[in-house]
Amino acid sequence: MMANPVPAELSSTEQPGDPCIMVIFGATGDLTRRLLMPALYNLASDGLLPENFAMVAMARRKNSTESFREMMSASIRQFSTSKEFNPRTWQQLVEKLYYLQDNIDNPAAYVALADIINELDKKYQTGGNILFYLATPPSMFGIIATQLHQAGFNTPGPGWKRIIVEKPFGHDLQSASKLNQELLKFWNEDQIYRIDHYLGKETVQNILAFRFSNRIFEPLWSRNFVDHIQLTVTERVGVGVRGAYYDQSGVLRDMIQNHILQMLCYICMEPPTSFHADAICHEKTKLLDAVRIMNPEDVMNNTIRGQYGSGRKADGSTNPGYRHEPGVNPESVTETFAAMKLFIDNWRWEGVPVYVRSGKSMRKKETTILVQFKRAPDVIFRNTPAMDHMEANQLVFHIQPDEGIELRFQAKRPGPSIALQKVNMRFNYGESFKDSPGTGYETLIYDAMIGDASLFSQTELVETAWRIAQPILDTWATSTSDDFPNYAAGSWGPKSAFDLIANDGRKWLELINCETLNRVPLFQPCRKVFLASLMMMLKPEIHAAGEYIVTRGDTGKEMYFINRGEVETLDENDTVIRKLQDGDFFGEIALLLTQARTASVRAKTDCDLFVLEQSDFKRVLRDFPEFARSVMEVARDRYNITASAEDLFDTDTASYLTAT
Ligand code: BG6
Repeated sequence: MMANPVPAELSSTEQPGDPCIMVIFGATGDLTRRLLMPALYNLASDGLLPENFAMVAMARRKNSTESFREMMSASIRQFSTSKEFNPRTWQQLVEKLYYLQDNIDNPAAYVALADIINELDKKYQTGGNILFYLATPPSMFGIIATQLHQAGFNTPGPGWKRIIVEKPFGHDLQSASKLNQELLKFWNEDQIYRIDHYLGKETVQNILAFRFSNRIFEPLWSRNFVDHIQLTVTERVGVGVRGAYYDQSGVLRDMIQNHILQMLCYICMEPPTSFHADAICHEKTKLLDAVRIMNPEDVMNNTIRGQYGSGRKADGSTNPGYRHEPGVNPESVTETFAAMKLFIDNWRWEGVPVYVRSGKSMRKKETTILVQFKRAPDVIFRNTPAMDHMEANQLVFHIQPDEGIELRFQAKRPGPSIALQKVNMRFNYGESFKDSPGTGYETLIYDAMIGDASLFSQTELVETAWRIAQPILDTWATSTSDDFPNYAAGSWGPKSAFDLIANDGRKWLELINCETLNRVPLFQPCRKVFLASLMMMLKPEIHAAGEYIVTRGDTGKEMYFINRGEVETLDENDTVIRKLQDGDFFGEIALLLTQARTASVRAKTDCDLFVLEQSDFKRVLRDFPEFARSVMEVARDRYNITASAEDLFDTDTASYLTAT
């Protein structure tokens, strides 16, 4: 690991956004409390919210300006992302909030809205600028855009008028095109800001900065050097209270068609000529245009889908199966997980597979993008111990959580022989920049206020993304998914997702955290840096229910972590001795001694495991000789193994131990 010499505080040179009135339609929904208000508060704290600003919250629910202000004041404490909450800043902001109770589809509501806006425009001197934020169900987008036009909001006059449209933008290609037509009937393309909150994430924006401001990577960024790309967006949460919406959507519409394809654009697009919105959108559209459209056979071969059944979350609590979530059809065939292999048919990426996976109710929340380079030629390492450990370079974008960028490469282990070990350099956002984490919406709202549409999608881009998703949706609709539910809540997803990539001789990038390793007594005396090295050595393995993982009498040379699932240990008569499950581990003695296994272990359910091999363990131990002693002590106290360093470790390690 490498510390980053980046200065902690960077001063902002940005000016506040243009004076304006922001109107939020559907303002009593979750989005306003959880994300929009905290984002406005953060902008105000950073001096980026214009002084001349007011907000009108419009919704059907009964409220007054006073009660709405109270509601927001209560929730800001809960949802603010700011490390130090400043009541004065909030007070100044809350006094600029106004509530209008009315039906969004009622033409008279827009007359009332015009009155209040005129009044506020005079009071706050906002120059006629209005930002309309459509935080309603998508079925209302067209109605609101039309009503606003009919009420005269879009007539030429002082100031700008812009519309921010929340996702989902359409349900399929046809409805997205229809929605575009409805919006474009009365509004110009440059007035419409279609939001994708992933593009507000610093780490996503940093992909472009990383690619185009660092010269060393760009020459390698093509089929000549890249083996494949992976995008993983997993969530620990299930559908929660959004079951009714989600059941009509599924993960392909909810996450892949928008967030994941947008990130794919940033990773794979050509350099735009500038950061101007049109230039970026042009390159993104070109990239998505090049994504191969699947025919039904491709869909069957290159995509898999899943739905979660009941299970346990990582914290031990139970999670109902998807079909038992509120608002979900008990016979639903909606997918809550999908994995697929995409191809980009252009000069740069021809033949480089892009593996994508996303799901709800999975083991953990994680968004990562892996760029896996081709392996170096191994000719010079033949006949050396390094040959067994040749691995390809990996560049990992940790989008969330633990935001950062990591480069994994091979290094020679100290010692007389040519042996290699995978090591990493990691830039960590949290360590290098002290800013409080934002909601992701700050940049997006601010950009809409200053008229910078570079993070928003234009008509063509949205429809191109739907063109990729549509054939998959169509084929899935006509083929059965008899095996649903096919993964347990809290797991890494269905086995078929692992097969999809394993059939190509590749594997998903798996990340396990230090806490999991720390449960193993053998590792407890070890520091984080040692565990981090061990983590690099873990290899994921999947076993179907009923399979033997370890057979009694075989010589064991590895230990196992149960990431998800249940196993049984069996004696010589195949009688169950113990049951182990998520977070448990077995076979750790094999890290210390090469001896016959004393029991068999069989998967009771489908299992996701991580394997740590003895040779890797010893290599790491050798690099951290100070831990070897503690490991030997634990071996003696806990496992009753008393042996000299020579017995426990290879000769090199033993000589290190004796020498230190
Ligand atoms: C939303 C989806 O767009 O993104 C949700 O509708 C999902 O289903 C959310 O939970 C994930 O966003 P984030 O920022 O928490 O990764």
